[in-house]
Amino acid sequence: MLRSLPLTLDGIHSTLETLAFGRRIELFDRIDSTNREAFMLAQADVDHGTLVVAEGQTDGRGRLGRTWFSPPGVNLYCSVVIRKVLPPDCLSAWLSWLPLTTAVATAESLESVAGVQVMVKWPNDLMIGGRKVGGILCESGTAVRSGPFQVVGIGLNVNGHSGDFPMEIRSSATTVLDETGRLLDRNRLLAQLLLELEQCIDELAANGQHRIAIAYQKRCTTLGQTVRASLADGKEFTGVAEAIDEDGSIQISRRPLPEDERTAEIIHIRTADIIHLQPSNL
Ligand code: BTN
Repeated sequence: MLRSLPLTLDGIHSTLETLAFGRRIELFDRIDSTNREAFMLAQADVDHGTLVVAEGQTDGRGRLGRTWFSPPGVNLYCSVVIRKVLPPDCLSAWLSWLPLTTAVATAESLESVAGVQVMVKWPNDLMIGGRKVGGILCESGTAVRSGPFQVVGIGLNVNGHSGDFPMEIRSSATTVLDETGRLLDRNRLLAQLLLELEQCIDELAANGQHRIAIAYQKRCTTLGQTVRASLADGKEFTGVAEAIDEDGSIQISRRPLPEDERTAEIIHIRTADIIHLQPSNL
């Protein structure tokens, strides 16, 4: 039977080409959540680029308060501490674009290492063949001495099988192995991910979102689709995803009735669960 090679410090460092990302690595066999650990380290003033990575998580966290399925030995669960000093007027764009930028970097790294096309479902679900292969959770905090920081957490389903997923996500999620038939060296994938992430985040911090937004839009499968957006307050909207705003929100145009002649109403959504609707489920 094919086996996933373990993550090791030497294995990650052997192909790591970054300046800051992953220069300090905290590698755990099992941890509750790499995001939680990275957050605590950031509060204790660790350097920009510090990486927390684990073979398995016992309390992996997802977006919108969900849990992240984190079995040991086959996937990537990692979190990077980010400290960038930015002018106050750039802060809001920085925070909204950080998860989308991470999605672009992760898609690019997975594509180059696994040789498979990776798309993004707004805001930051990583998709292969219409099924979710990874997700991103960004969190912000402030340390008493070293000031504001962000934690960028990435989970990727790499060398497992979707047949082992919990029933409720089995049909919507996938793994790189299922899609390509090949086991990946997760050490190599992580080193490439850190490189792309460092470059994309440096670009965002130095020049704003302009170039990242172009790369994001090329990969975003949500654009042009009929979608249902479920908001945190329970409201739901159905319409066509038209564009990504300057602040990373998605624009959805909707008509009260499909045959309605009036101009469609445009709504701007910042945080939501998005479902791509096929014409058959409208
Ligand atoms: C999502 O819901 O799509 C986001 C999932 C993010 C999961 C990753 S796994 C590594 C890091 N640690 C966590 O607890 N969550 C993120």
